[in-house]
Amino acid sequence: MTEPPDPGTDVALYVHWPYCARICPYCDFNVVRDRGRTDEQAALTAAILSDIQAQSALTGPRRLASIFFGGGTPSLMAPEAVAAIIDRARALFPPRGDIEITLEANPTDAEAARFQALAAAGVNRLSMGVQALDDAALAFLGRNHSADEARRAVAVAATAFPRLSIDLIYALPGQSVADWTAELTRALDMGFEHVSPYQLTIESTTAFGRAVARGAWTPPDQDLAADLYEATQHALAAAGFDAYEVSNHARGIAARSAHNLHVWRGGDYIGVGPGAHGRLTLNGTRTASVAHRAIGSYLAGVEAAAPWSEHTPLSAQDAAEERVLLGLRTVEGVAVSVLEDVATPGATASLIADGLLEHINGHIRTTATGRPLLDGVLKALLV
Ligand SMILES: C[S@@+](CC[C@H](N)C(=O)[O-])C[C@H]1O[C@@H](n2cnc3c(N)ncnc32)[C@H](O)[C@@H]1O
Ligand code: SF4
Repeated sequence: MTEPPDPGTDVALYVHWPYCARICPYCDFNVVRDRGRTDEQAALTAAILSDIQAQSALTGPRRLASIFFGGGTPSLMAPEAVAAIIDRARALFPPRGDIEITLEANPTDAEAARFQALAAAGVNRLSMGVQALDDAALAFLGRNHSADEARRAVAVAATAFPRLSIDLIYALPGQSVADWTAELTRALDMGFEHVSPYQLTIESTTAFGRAVARGAWTPPDQDLAADLYEATQHALAAAGFDAYEVSNHARGIAARSAHNLHVWRGGDYIGVGPGAHGRLTLNGTRTASVAHRAIGSYLAGVEAAAPWSEHTPLSAQDAAEERVLLGLRTVEGVAVSVLEDVATPGATASLIADGLLEHINGHIRTTATGRPLLDGVLKALLV
């Protein structure tokens, strides 16, 4: 039988693969266009392996909780590279049993053709960026696949991986609640255990940020965005998905993302790859690391035995605030003892009285009403 992971000591691994076939106009992740530089990609794989090794020297013996390949587009990675990273992580941090290994994928035919090989490398959960099931919306989002292509990729993924999640983006300009609900309902017919619907965020440094700034188009106003959020919650609840985090819905507890839950519970994780963040408890102190963002600097950093700027100690106050920030995103909430250390006196009681927070088993969590208002709740709690 598999021993349950221990969020207190087990360590998760986040691997950042920055290459994308095309850069989407809304995306501000640490990404670069994939120009087929196989030498650079081989060097990056080798650097990621060295980085994992170097960080294992810092942590000492630990158990592996989960692995998450994010990006960028890790479905463009050579399956051998994925296998080598999984093998190295397992060897350095022996897991307690079967662990969740997720990889983010774009739904193109070319990538679907490699799903079997990625599964053979050890990936057992695919998180696919479907984004929309409407060709006009996909074109607006600058995606390099059609809705039919995404459906085909979902069908292939369902045969290759035991677990499948999809990402969708809503609150596009001109999108009505009826349009979005119909699209979401069509998506739910495709069959998967987990869905992450994200409201389109306009980041100032992106092509969309510049377009909105010059008035080329306007995103939905706050009221419409709130109605779209409500409609999303209703449609997903009706289809049997629990909203276990602000933007994450799962068909049952076993379908929740173990990796993300580990992070939201304040568990330790190693971050490797350009720009990856990590959180490690070293000698009893919680530390934060961030790797160099540019691929060249990351490679040079590994060479010089310093792929990350450093593992900076977090003050007890900062560490507790982070726990609150993450915990309140989820249905599990945050332990009362952690919240008490950082909350403004009286704020918790007044947010409970307003119906935005609730008490449950020694934890405080956001209510269904409070979760979409999280920014305001945090402001009231943490000033
Ligand atoms: C880091 S991306 C990687 C996924 C994969 N490369 C893809 O695009 O399919 C993870 C997810 O973040 C979401 N995302 C990225 N930028 C966003 C934005 N500005 N607004 C809303 N969602 C966004 C998308 O749904 C995307 O699938
Ligand atoms: S959304 Fe995905 S494919 Fe598009 S640029 Fe961001 S990481 Fe790359």
